Formats: sequence, structure tokens, C-alpha cells
Amino acid sequence: MHKTQTQPRETGVAAGAAVHLTGLRKHYGDVRAVDGVDLTIAPGEVVALLGPNGAGKSTTVDMILGLTRPDSGTVSVFGSTPAAAVAEGAIGAMLQGGALLDDMTVAEMVGMVASLHHKPMPVGEALRRAGIADLGVRRSTKLSGGQKQRVRFAVALVSDPDLLVLDEPTAAMDVGTRREFWKSMYEFTNSGRTVLFATHYLEEAEEFADRVVLMRSGRVVADGSVAEVRALAGGRTVRAVLPGVTEPVIAGLPAVTGYELRGDRAVLSSADSDATLRALLAAVPGARDIEISAVGLEGAFLSLTSEENTEETGR
Ligand SMILES: Nc1ncnc2c1ncn2[C@@H]1O[C@H](COP(=O)(O)OP(=O)(O)OP(=O)(O)O)[C@@H](O)[C@H]1O
Ligand SMILES: [Mg+2]
Repeated sequence: MHKTQTQPRETGVAAGAAVHLTGLRKHYGDVRAVDGVDLTIAPGEVVALLGPNGAGKSTTVDMILGLTRPDSGTVSVFGSTPAAAVAEGAIGAMLQGGALLDDMTVAEMVGMVASLHHKPMPVGEALRRAGIADLGVRRSTKLSGGQKQRVRFAVALVSDPDLLVLDEPTAAMDVGTRREFWKSMYEFTNSGRTVLFATHYLEEAEEFADRVVLMRSGRVVADGSVAEVRALAGGRTVRAVLPGVTEPVIAGLPAVTGYELRGDRAVLSSADSDATLRALLAAVPGARDIEISAVGLEGAFLSLTSEENTEETGR
């Protein structure tokens, strides 16, 4: 329903894209885990994939990595299939709850993954970048949850990939570890590499992503720059009963960044509620029960991703 929803880009862009998804679908029985996702990520972009539990983030990520086969649609990674991109070491991945090998030390495990690739980075460097240089000789059974996450990060980094795909990378990390993690991510992205990460933390998306893709019920419901998401956060919500109003009237109001219309009841997101309200009263003289409230990033996120919010509007 949000106006910044992505339109599929031209195929010219797709040819050089880091990730290009078209009409991607995966259903499990009646559950539409991913229900028609089109997404193009350019090389060098850092993209946050946000959405509530069950939105389809992990399923999308798994299809990008070639771990899950789509029911329909296409996935290409740097113009290749996921399997080819993974085999070339072009993708590094950190999965939600990916297993670690019990009977190995951290350095052995990262070294084993490195040995599978043509041009890995030195194991020591991967450990350093992941902030676990001092844990190389530790067995994986003796690691805390946050340390395990950092080992997974070292495993993702060691092939020196062009694309990092991270599914909730900081889930088990404390605040300090999380900060360290993002610092080393900066090191990685500053060299022009592409990152797609799924997260529940809005502040991480705001701080570290160039672009935010919001998913709900298997679909992309909003896709925009961090600045656009910030604009949403700084806006207001205008609620009103608007007898006889039509969608084009609402969509044409100034400063409206998103809207929902159910019968006569409208909920508008506005970047400038004064301007919106003046135009609204002129366009719909019968408007009544008007309410204006501030909306935070959290609120914008919730309104865009809530299950009740079933109406979609394109640009
Ligand atoms: N292997 C599977 N078999 C059956 N249903 C599945 C399977 N994997 C995912 N699903 C369902 O598909 C939907 C999307 O799940 P997915 O794991 O992609 O969500 P998510 O956005 O990653 O959620 P979370 O934030 O909780 O990690 C959910 O309803 C989930 O129950
Ligand atoms: Mg998930």
C-alpha cells in the first residue's frame, strides 16, 4: 500500500544486477511463504529486508542462495544461477540458525570452508574481521550464542564474496557485539560489495542500509531508500471518514506518502499533515471524525506490515 513500492526495473539494469528476482513464488501447502516477489539489487547496494515473523524473508533468502527451489519465477545472482554463484565463491551466506561442526575448532572450520574456494581470504583475516581472532582454537561446542554468530560471519566472509546474504545476523548478539559486527560490515561494504540482510531491528536497517525492503505475507509492501523510510517516520497519520471518496482523490492529495481506504474510512500517511488536511477539506467537504497522530518508524513499519492491512496501492 505504500507509494514507494518498487516497480520492476528495466532489463538493462537486470543484466548487471547483483540479485535479480522476478515473479518469485514459494508455497508450502496453503501457506504462500513468498507470493510474487520482484526485486533488483544493484552491485554495491546494502539492502535491509524487514518484516514480521513469517513474512517470507528467510524463504526469499534461501531461494537466492539456491537452498530452496522456487515454485515459479526466476532468481539470478550476478547473471548466474544461485548454484553457479555459490560455487564461484561469489556469495557468502549467514543463515538463521545455520549449524556449526561440533568436533572442530573455529579456525579449522573456517579453514575448511576456505579450502572449498579458489581465492579465499586468509583464515586469520576472516577471524579478525569477524572479531573472533582470539577464538581460533576454541571448539564450537564451547561458544556462546553471540560468538557462534560471529563464527558464522567468518564462514560467510572467508570466500571473499561479492555478495553477502545475512539472515538476522545480529539476532543473538549483545549491543557491544552488534556494534562490532556492523563496524566490520562497513569495512566490507566500503570496498563496493553488495549486502542483503534480513532483520527485525528497524534501527539497524536505518543505520546500515541504503535501501529498505519491507515484506509482509510473502510480498514486498514497501521498497525505498532509508531517507524515504525516515520521511515516513517523521510524518503523521490522518484518519477520517470521507463519504463518497475515491482512491484517485486520496492519492492526489499533497504530501500523502501512503494510504488505506476501507469503505468511507481512510487512513493517510502524510509528510505534511497541514498541507494534506487543507487539501482534503477542500476536496471532500463532507469529511468528518478527523484525527491526526504522530507516527514513528515503528508505527510506519507496523502499519505497512500488519496482517489487517490488506489493501495495496502501486505508484
Ligand atoms: N519448510 C517449510 N515448510 C512449511 N512451511 C514453511 C517452511 N518454511 C517456511 N514456511 C512458512 O512460510 C512462511 C514464511 O516463512 P519465513 O521463514 O520465510 O519467514 P521469515 O520472514 O523469515 O520469518 P522470521 O522473521 O520469523 O524469521 C511462514 O508462514 C512459515 O511458517
Ligand atoms: Mg526468517
